[in-house]
Amino acid sequence: MSATLERKKITVPAIMAMKQRNEKIAALTAYDFLLAHLLDEAGLDLMLVGDSVAMVFAGHETTLPITLDEIIYHTRAVRRGVKNALLVADMPFLSYQVSPEQAVLNAGRLLKEGGAEAVKLEGGSVMAETIRRIVQVGIPVMGHLGLTPQSINAFGGYALQASQAESAKKLLEEALQLQEAGVFALVLEKIPATVAREVTQALQVPTIGIGAGPDCDGQILVTHDMLGLFEKFKPKFVRRYADVGRVMREACEAYRKEVKAGAFPAEQESY
Ligand code: KIV
Repeated sequence: MSATLERKKITVPAIMAMKQRNEKIAALTAYDFLLAHLLDEAGLDLMLVGDSVAMVFAGHETTLPITLDEIIYHTRAVRRGVKNALLVADMPFLSYQVSPEQAVLNAGRLLKEGGAEAVKLEGGSVMAETIRRIVQVGIPVMGHLGLTPQSINAFGGYALQASQAESAKKLLEEALQLQEAGVFALVLEKIPATVAREVTQALQVPTIGIGAGPDCDGQILVTHDMLGLFEKFKPKFVRRYADVGRVMREACEAYRKEVKAGAFPAEQESY
């Protein structure tokens, strides 16, 4: 459909400029070539090789087990499918928390080996120095505050974050610290819409919300959630735009039945 849509390559400055002219940023996750190509054709601004790949693609219970090499593998596949969208790769658990030096090296691998154009990492003030060091070597960083799934064990679940005055104030302070450290954008996950609005108004860099209400500068969802492909659970913040899981199941069942009945292949599918 939109193969004819003329689009310009989206860069990090282009994403930042969208906030200035009040243009919402549309972002989704991708883990493979095929889906990345579809999303790029659909005109998405930003594609994230999220560490959610651990749960959605690999079937793990949390995002923690995915390795840097695995994220690089997925980023390379996505790279081949993306022409216009800005390609951001997630830094997996323990690939950036140990030392700024290790973080720079691993962020560099996501660009050098994976073909990403930017990296994302989770955490507030404790990550500011690391972000500064990564940005200093020319690697754009997207921050991630609120519900940061790599800290699931500390949180004890996927509850709403920054829901009290004190935690909301802390989140705003951390957002400002991350901006000061050099992030070009900030993901806000599962926080009250009022808090996200305040953070968005306070920052010059764009906020990209997931479960953070309508006032963020952009939105991101896990593609497999919004397509109805990942059916294990559905957070309240997910809107299902399609029921692709049902379509695929029905198609596979029809195939099975026709094979069993000897109805596939027919003459036109034979040589
Ligand atoms: O891993 C991921 O998919 C993410 C997005 C949901 C923001 O971090």
